[in-house]
Amino acid sequence: MKNKILITSALPYANGPIHLGQIAGAYLPGDIYYRYQKLKKRDVIHICGTDENGVPITIEAEGAGKSPQVLVDYYYDNIKDSFERMGIVHDNFSRTSIQLHHKQAQDFFIKVYDKNYIVTKNIKQYYCPHCRRFLADRYIEGTCPYCGCDEARGDQCESCGRWLDPENLISPRCKVCGDTPVLRETKHWYFRLDLLQPELEKWIETKKHWKNNVKKFCRGWFNEGLKPRAITRDLSWGVPVPLKEAKDKVLYVWFDAPIGYISSTIEWASKIGEPDLWKDYWLNPETRLIHFIGKDNIVFHAMVWPAMLIAHGDYILPSEIPANEFLNLKGAKFSTSRRRAIWLHEVLDTIEPDLLRYALSVNLPENKDTDFDWDDFQNKVNNELANILGNFVNRTISFISRSYSSKVPGAHDLKDEDKYMLEFLLKTKNNMEEKIEGFELKKGIKALMELAKKANRYFDKTKPWENIKKNKDKCSRTINTCIQIVDGLATLMEPYLPFTSRKILKMLDINKNEWDSIGRPRIPENKEMGKIEILFKKVENETIKIEKEKLGIEELKMADIISIEDFSKVEMKVATIESAEKVENAQKLTKMIVDIGGEKRQIIAGIAEFYEPEELVGKSIIVVTNLTPAKIRGIESNGMLLAATKGNDLVLLTIDKEIDPGAKVS
Ligand code: 2FM
Ligand code: ZN
Repeated sequence: MKNKILITSALPYANGPIHLGQIAGAYLPGDIYYRYQKLKKRDVIHICGTDENGVPITIEAEGAGKSPQVLVDYYYDNIKDSFERMGIVHDNFSRTSIQLHHKQAQDFFIKVYDKNYIVTKNIKQYYCPHCRRFLADRYIEGTCPYCGCDEARGDQCESCGRWLDPENLISPRCKVCGDTPVLRETKHWYFRLDLLQPELEKWIETKKHWKNNVKKFCRGWFNEGLKPRAITRDLSWGVPVPLKEAKDKVLYVWFDAPIGYISSTIEWASKIGEPDLWKDYWLNPETRLIHFIGKDNIVFHAMVWPAMLIAHGDYILPSEIPANEFLNLKGAKFSTSRRRAIWLHEVLDTIEPDLLRYALSVNLPENKDTDFDWDDFQNKVNNELANILGNFVNRTISFISRSYSSKVPGAHDLKDEDKYMLEFLLKTKNNMEEKIEGFELKKGIKALMELAKKANRYFDKTKPWENIKKNKDKCSRTINTCIQIVDGLATLMEPYLPFTSRKILKMLDINKNEWDSIGRPRIPENKEMGKIEILFKKVENETIKIEKEKLGIEELKMADIISIEDFSKVEMKVATIESAEKVENAQKLTKMIVDIGGEKRQIIAGIAEFYEPEELVGKSIIVVTNLTPAKIRGIESNGMLLAATKGNDLVLLTIDKEIDPGAKVS
């Protein structure tokens, strides 16, 4: 086992507050893992910071009528504060707009450039004549050619996570003004991923134990064959490209952001007065580098970043990338830029952080997307946290206070039932270690709850409230065993519920948790207990109602719930395709003339990869007929056909039996 651990959590964009989806995806898992490793007394650091460059920032700043600097200053503070309130700890929380990072990213670029992994290309790029600028990344939107999501961005589809080129988008439009962009010549610097594919493949081969979601992504990319990718942008905000001939260009945000992990570690080392200490991690093959991320970041962390690191040559490569799926809100993804989310800082105004940490921990999207729901939250807090865990701790300490004047009774000559419980405590510790180290954090907290459940049953069965009179020895054995378990629970819960753990320590009048002493009772006879505190207040219906009301507006937006009146405004008709041809210079587009009952219409649709023109002619399809005509690649499209899509599949909606074109669909 390597002896140092460098944990990073994805650098969140400083373009909005943090939401629960991000917390469940990367930050809470990173924090749980870090706290656990600290308890194991390992040499570990947790590095993070805000991602402050690139289009995600400029587009938000423009929308808010603020300068990018003002925007990132605001959200840096906001995000840092939210993490602190949630108990998410980092050894350093940096930002990528600082000089130290700019220099680090530029030096990185130059080294890779000098090794001939970066080349220039003159290309045609989308340009918005109305806004008079090249449309980089999020300035352009359109339909994703892979999953059909119609809000895909120029560099990535948020829905399926694919990394895109703007040229891939079907029906591209300018995000700012909505106009259809045109292609214009420009020059960019490309990173030669193609050259690095063989080494990358070899490296990923060594990661047999990685989660399937990560390996699947990589396999897909390798099968397609990696291509050079543009790593510069025509923007005025970001890290300037350190070449004379690249005036007015900045680095692509996904090129500089992961370098932010290194910059933040350097900043940490100098802050603690040991400026070279960062090298012990980044330059040391004995360090395990672990990136906690959400699935939308997989391609960058498992492919692009390792390729950058290989090309550069000095630094270690990631050992683990425990990427989570998404935590959704009624099936739809949270999104900062679209402001569809439950914001952490708002929730923390009314809800204790550990309640949220618990509800999210037992519902982490480790292997599949999960849903967040306020009723479920209330149920988990009241019926699990309060009724099981809180109840056990409080009944034990109250009993000591009531029946033993707050002094722990001794335990002499433990019987099998008591020993069994102490052994189970030790077993739970071992089980949790295995789960946390294997990144199965959800199973870890479930094991802890199992212990609390068992402990309650033990309390019930051994009936101390009766034995305090009937069988004093037995009663003190029970209570002593219970208080040792309370102590054990306090330690085991620290990674997940740090605030509660501290509360229990206070009641036990103990300074700190000792992970490796679990199983060896450490609360001595006669130890005086501190003041009793209720661990978890139950969540009232009123609180849930308020949270739901906050959400009500958002939910409506997310699910696009519409009334029957709204729906009846959409006019759909059966249409017969009379002719079809591929649109020149547009791989994905087909132009069709359809008959909708005496009226002919021209329709442009992104179906060229799924249907040959000759297959289409004669088909009866469904068309939305009352949309404002749109221009796609300069060609008018007067109607929209309906198709079902899933993953890489697309099939047209047709009719079950013959009916004349023009028939209304309702
Ligand atoms: O998805 C995001 O929020 C990105 N800002 C994550 C960047 S991670 C790292 F590479 F910096
Ligand atoms: Zn525009």
